[in-house]
Amino acid sequence: HAFFKPIQEAAPPSPTKRHTKISVIGAGNVGMAIAQTILTQDLADELVLVDAKPDKLRGEMLDLQHAAAFLPRTKIIASVDYAVTAGSDLCIVTAGARQIAGESRLNLLQRNLTLYSDIIPPLARYSPDTILMIVSNPVDVLTYVAWKLSGFPSNRVIGSGTNLDSSRFRFLIADHLDVNAQDVQAYIVGEHGDSSVALWSSISVGGVPVLSFLEKQEIAYEKVTLEHIHREVIESAYEVIRLKGYTSWAIGYSVANLARAILRDQRRIHAVSVLAKGFYGIDDGEVFLSLPAQLGRGGVLGVTNVHLTDEEAQKLRDSAKTILEYQRQLGI
Ligand code: NAD
Ligand code: LAC
Repeated sequence: HAFFKPIQEAAPPSPTKRHTKISVIGAGNVGMAIAQTILTQDLADELVLVDAKPDKLRGEMLDLQHAAAFLPRTKIIASVDYAVTAGSDLCIVTAGARQIAGESRLNLLQRNLTLYSDIIPPLARYSPDTILMIVSNPVDVLTYVAWKLSGFPSNRVIGSGTNLDSSRFRFLIADHLDVNAQDVQAYIVGEHGDSSVALWSSISVGGVPVLSFLEKQEIAYEKVTLEHIHREVIESAYEVIRLKGYTSWAIGYSVANLARAILRDQRRIHAVSVLAKGFYGIDDGEVFLSLPAQLGRGGVLGVTNVHLTDEEAQKLRDSAKTILEYQRQLGI
């Protein structure tokens, strides 16, 4: 196009300018919620969508492209061919079966395992230096599967894990105390699912440990109340799925939050699914589950050494056993 006349003696574009490319695999409810949050938060120069259904995929691509006048400039492309993902900085995998009302996440494993053997090898081949962010369920087992299939070092294979559960937890605590959820520091760790573990002992609000905060404010503190909040976190997804059929907005924000921490080298601490062998006494097998991890441009930079009570550490090891048992049953 000759729309612009070049200025004289223009220098070539700076080779140091970063070009950030994110690929989202699976253009369903979750993939599209992630894609639109990434766009509105200006996290990528290029956003790629891949799905097995070409018409749905092209429809989603066009629908997002038509919002260009209202969004930061991002090149949006889509294809059923993984070649379009080449050179991605981050690949987010959301493809796969989802739960029907009442179904557990672990029940999806067999179906999604087969899909992953078609998805992960081409992703790894086209983007050998990428960071893989796994979202499909059951997320912890599939992160392990993606690690094995990609052959990547474990710092570059991350499951979205309990970053979402921790957000639900912070929302419920904030609601209970009538404070801002962003002032609540609280982590759910372990399986993203029914055996997750609430780290009550390390919760703080505005830097004040929550248990003594509750006592000081003379808010009746009972273990039952706390357990009820954790139960509500576990039930959250089941309730939303029963009501609207799937969950999407919160996971969209949760994954965009992780993408920002990684691509902008934020070095923030998030509960995400990482190779847990060797941490907190988990040592009887290769298992991915969520621990508070520091995230940056290199992926997982380290796991925070949070103090766990004996009860919390035991629950975490039990959660690891639950996941390992599924892996063993499938012979993976
Ligand atoms: P969905 O049915 O809306 O979308 C799934 C998409 O995957 C579809 O568009 C389908 O065409 C595509 N797909 C299927 N096989 C494929 C293949 N081989 N290659 C490429 N694309 C393929 O489902 P959803 O609601 O978006 O959920 C997707 C997954 O995310 C489910 O496994 C769900 O359980 C999981 N999920 C995880 C979390 C989490 O916190 N980790 C949260 C919500 C949902
Ligand atoms: C969630 C999904 C279903 O929203 O794992 O927790």
